[in-house]
Amino acid sequence: MRADQPLLLLDTGVGGLSILGPIRKLLPRAPIVYALDQAGFPYGQKSEAELAARVPALLGRLAEHVDARLAVIACNTASVIALDPVRAALAIPIVGTVPAIKPAAAISKSRVIGVLGTAATVRQPYVDNLSREFASDCTVIRHGSHELVALAEQKMRSRPTDPNAYARVLDGLFGQPGGDKIDTIVLSCTHFPLVEAELAAASPHPVAFVHGGDGIARRVAHLTEGQPWPEEPRPGTAIFVSDGSDPEPLRPGLAQYGFENFETL
Ligand code: DGL
Repeated sequence: MRADQPLLLLDTGVGGLSILGPIRKLLPRAPIVYALDQAGFPYGQKSEAELAARVPALLGRLAEHVDARLAVIACNTASVIALDPVRAALAIPIVGTVPAIKPAAAISKSRVIGVLGTAATVRQPYVDNLSREFASDCTVIRHGSHELVALAEQKMRSRPTDPNAYARVLDGLFGQPGGDKIDTIVLSCTHFPLVEAELAAASPHPVAFVHGGDGIARRVAHLTEGQPWPEEPRPGTAIFVSDGSDPEPLRPGLAQYGFENFETL
């Protein structure tokens, strides 16, 4: 293991930044390569078969390209669908991002939990299993929203968004039978913590928002314990898996997260 071998994070867009923040706090000297699969965006609207083929192939190619020491699938959709095929295809440790239903069940007083993710995530048996295992005495209400993914992408490009959009998204949970009792919402798409303040402001009553970032950072720290890091923190590298669109509007937002090197694949 060399000190300059990076941690590789993959998402379709800016969502993985909500995982990067906690990782940086725990491991400030870790070299970071952050890959944005813009050509595959949005994963939440793709089929299981498409993702189970695309994610292992792409992550394998990227891991080799940057000589990653570990990869984080910083995307719930890709993790709940493609974690097993990715682990089978790559030789390095893989950390996935799955809905934080366990911590949500630990704090919910009303025992009614909302799971807000992409359409592809909320329909997965993986979510049934997490609910059964960790929240069997809770009612778990799910809603899939692509609109919220798009809102987070717009925010990161400093573009104005419809102020009523957040309430409309939340109504997808609160408007379901029993939804008015939800006191805890699992942000089950990595894009969503980036708009947590907007969601909190639009919520008809106070709710706790929970996501997996801190747990993932602890897992990465555990898996890399004892490994060498560079003496000083270094600027990160962002790789655009390009859909042909201009990456320029994203650069200032990414620069705020410490990215100074940009590549297009
Ligand atoms: N950030 C991804 C997730 O956590 C999804 C965004 C998309 O639909 O591409 O699920």
